[in-house]
Amino acid sequence: MEPLIVANWKMNPITLAEVKNLFNSVKNGIKNIKNAKVVICPPFVYLSNIQYLKSNIKLGAQDCFWEEKGAFTGEISPLTLKNLGCEYVIIGHSERRKLGETDEMINKKIKAALSAKLKPILCIGETGEERKQGKTFKVLKNQLKNDLKYLISNIYYLKSLIIAYEPVWAIGTGNSCEPREAKKVYLFLRKISHQLINSRASYNSEGICSGSANKLLYGGSVNSENAASYIQEANFQGLLVGGASLNAQEFIKIVKSIDPAPILQNNCFAAHGGRIGQSRLAGQYYSY
Ligand code: PGA
Repeated sequence: MEPLIVANWKMNPITLAEVKNLFNSVKNGIKNIKNAKVVICPPFVYLSNIQYLKSNIKLGAQDCFWEEKGAFTGEISPLTLKNLGCEYVIIGHSERRKLGETDEMINKKIKAALSAKLKPILCIGETGEERKQGKTFKVLKNQLKNDLKYLISNIYYLKSLIIAYEPVWAIGTGNSCEPREAKKVYLFLRKISHQLINSRASYNSEGICSGSANKLLYGGSVNSENAASYIQEANFQGLLVGGASLNAQEFIKIVKSIDPAPILQNNCFAAHGGRIGQSRLAGQYYSY
């Protein structure tokens, strides 16, 4: 499985000249990359400009609306995004949840994105307070259950869904989640997503998967020093990068730090329905 590195440019850069400069620098810097897939999510208005700067970088959006078209001032249709060449769309980012986006809205957006044949990158994560209170797993499970309501158990429908674990306390703070802690969350999410989505995949005790498992990404203060550890130690299948993706050289370093090491595929159980994996997680054994 090739790692997916997603750049979330958020509300940056301000001018088209800067956008082209940043994009072209990244494009040139990663042209020899072999194993990683890179996605850039610029502000909506730059999607078509970037689409014409041909490259092997994939395009994503930072949000979409849940209706296809109509009187919804200021919203963006998933169909418009698809027509502009987007393959991915970030949904439920904590910065949008903070502005009032609810699980119910996120649920509708995921459904609309999937219907438009976009690959949704669903962001979930606990706040610092919830983490302190030991509620991380509970929060993540609730978000997943509510965000995927009415969609779960439909393997075909959800197979292109990507889940990004983005601890809110780690976003934009420089205070990234330790790979050891991230790995516990990874194993938990692997188990929960498997239960909810019922994907046809097999795992070993490290949560390393084969088959059609949904990709799990880590995001939150990723930089060129820590990027590889989330893939190699915590076993995530990719990264969601915010601040560091605005610096072309730093982002290129991140991608290169991932590229030489394709995601661990060794020790996978060969087939769905094979052995049951067990992993020690937060003091308890979970089977999956
Ligand atoms: P950050 O942002 O890398 O700046 O922490 C990540 C994100 O918000 O997706």
